[in-house]
Amino acid sequence: MATLDTLLAKDVKKRRTFAIIAHPDAGKTTLTEKLLLFGGAIQMAGAVKGRKAARHATSDWMEVEQQRGISVTSSVMQFEYDGHVINLLDTPGHEDFSEDTYRVLTAVDAAVMVIDAAKGVEAQTIKLLEVCRLRNTPIITFINKMDREVRDPIDLLSEIEDILKLECVPITWPIGMGKTFRGVFSLTKDHLVRFAPGEDRLSSNQELIEGLDNPRLDELFPMEMGYVRESIELIKGVSNPFDIKKFLAGEQSPVFFGSGVNNFGVKDVLEALVQWAPEPQPRDAGARMVEPTEKPFTGFVFKIQANMDPKHRDRIAFFRVCSGRYTPGMKVRHLREDREMKIPNALTFMANDRVTMMDAVAGDIIGIYNHGQLHIGDTLTEGEKLGFTGIPYFAPELFRSARPKDPFKAKQLHKGLKELGEEGAIQVFENDLGHLFLGAVGFLQFEIVAQRLATEYKVDALYENTDVSTARWLSFPDELTQKQFMDEQASRLARDADGNLVYLATSIYNLQTTQKHWPQVQFHTTREKN
Ligand code: G4P
Repeated sequence: MATLDTLLAKDVKKRRTFAIIAHPDAGKTTLTEKLLLFGGAIQMAGAVKGRKAARHATSDWMEVEQQRGISVTSSVMQFEYDGHVINLLDTPGHEDFSEDTYRVLTAVDAAVMVIDAAKGVEAQTIKLLEVCRLRNTPIITFINKMDREVRDPIDLLSEIEDILKLECVPITWPIGMGKTFRGVFSLTKDHLVRFAPGEDRLSSNQELIEGLDNPRLDELFPMEMGYVRESIELIKGVSNPFDIKKFLAGEQSPVFFGSGVNNFGVKDVLEALVQWAPEPQPRDAGARMVEPTEKPFTGFVFKIQANMDPKHRDRIAFFRVCSGRYTPGMKVRHLREDREMKIPNALTFMANDRVTMMDAVAGDIIGIYNHGQLHIGDTLTEGEKLGFTGIPYFAPELFRSARPKDPFKAKQLHKGLKELGEEGAIQVFENDLGHLFLGAVGFLQFEIVAQRLATEYKVDALYENTDVSTARWLSFPDELTQKQFMDEQASRLARDADGNLVYLATSIYNLQTTQKHWPQVQFHTTREKN
């Protein structure tokens, strides 16, 4: 019989935790939906119909998202495929939420990048890839919408290589496009998977044609096969061999072509995830690296989300397990608050359904009911003093001051903003006089916060421009310097949601002048949470 340790190692090995990154409209939602179909996590009919009605699929919850047709919040979905447990973390594609996206990307071990074949590399693709690069996240590329008139595949690969500096290795190669899209030829398996359109089609009834010289191909596509054979020989000749080490180092990406909406080529991506994407990786916990197969339970909160379900007005802390095993009711150490806490009934998510989690190991994401005790970046362990690193806050570039329309609602406003700040929806700073400043990376964040304050906290607020243009977190060499600085700069100082001192600069010039006067003080553009 296997001992507990080998069982844990076996379970960890089965995990694949990844996110889909894409410029809005490239097909992330569609791909998510099709991946979930393979895992049996959603029912075909419901999903397809629901999609038409609501525009965006199972991973979107908030009203604003539906109104705008963009995915604002992230969600987590777990499903099984080919003996593996797959955790799919959805990332908001809109640029206003890059900070949130960054945090989600700290919790994955791999990413699937979706490219619209008609558009190629787009602005948000570049940004998201930069974020992945910070952690050398391995990337699988899916070039989508081959059923449309799109760009030349060789051009697309060169564009990815040139702009994203990511070496591409095509694993499948498309035959035609748009009305004459015939399918994809697997360069590794040496067969053609024939394309058949249809949203409701399952991949299992695809026609496979073995070998490039198969006469069946000439029968089907007599006019095209000459050119097809030539171009496949060419591409085999010029592309680099797939190198798993380079892929795992984030330097090389296997590329697949397909059509998400037709559920074509999606299975290839899933197979690549299972076969090549890494199992949960060791994590930097400050004091030391934590191995995923260590027995004691550890992990960190990377996201807090409210209103996932209008029926449950609660907040969920998304927690990435980094080692050990979660069991319902287990007691853990909340290191920031230095106290014990119980996790009575953590959740996992299967499309729209929340299910009580009975067992979780490294790589899994559990949802913990949260009444404010957990913040983004919090580490939980079985007692060891660790702090998982790498979840930064970025200095916001957009600021508003906030005050309630009704002065008697000041308390609600404070409470609402404090909670939204802890969730990471917006950054909230408060100065000595009790004035609140909201800091955002994108304008849309203000809109969402205003709407949520009005609906969840029943407070209408006035948001006004301020003279703040950027913020910097501060650190001091000693207490005396800190006191002198605080006395002199009192009017420009505030505290963030965790009580850290922040300098609110009126302009870059103002910031530089202050920095010049105070060379001993350090001004930070990011703050790491631990
Ligand atoms: P996103 O989450 O990345 O923003 O993209 P989403 O999946 O919502 O897809 C954006 C649009 O592209 C949708 O069309 C979707 O149907 C379409 N799409 C996705 N994959 C394919 C594909 O392989 N081929 C083609 N031709 N279209 C694809 P829409 O008209 O905006 O919405 P809908 O009414 O079709 O749902």
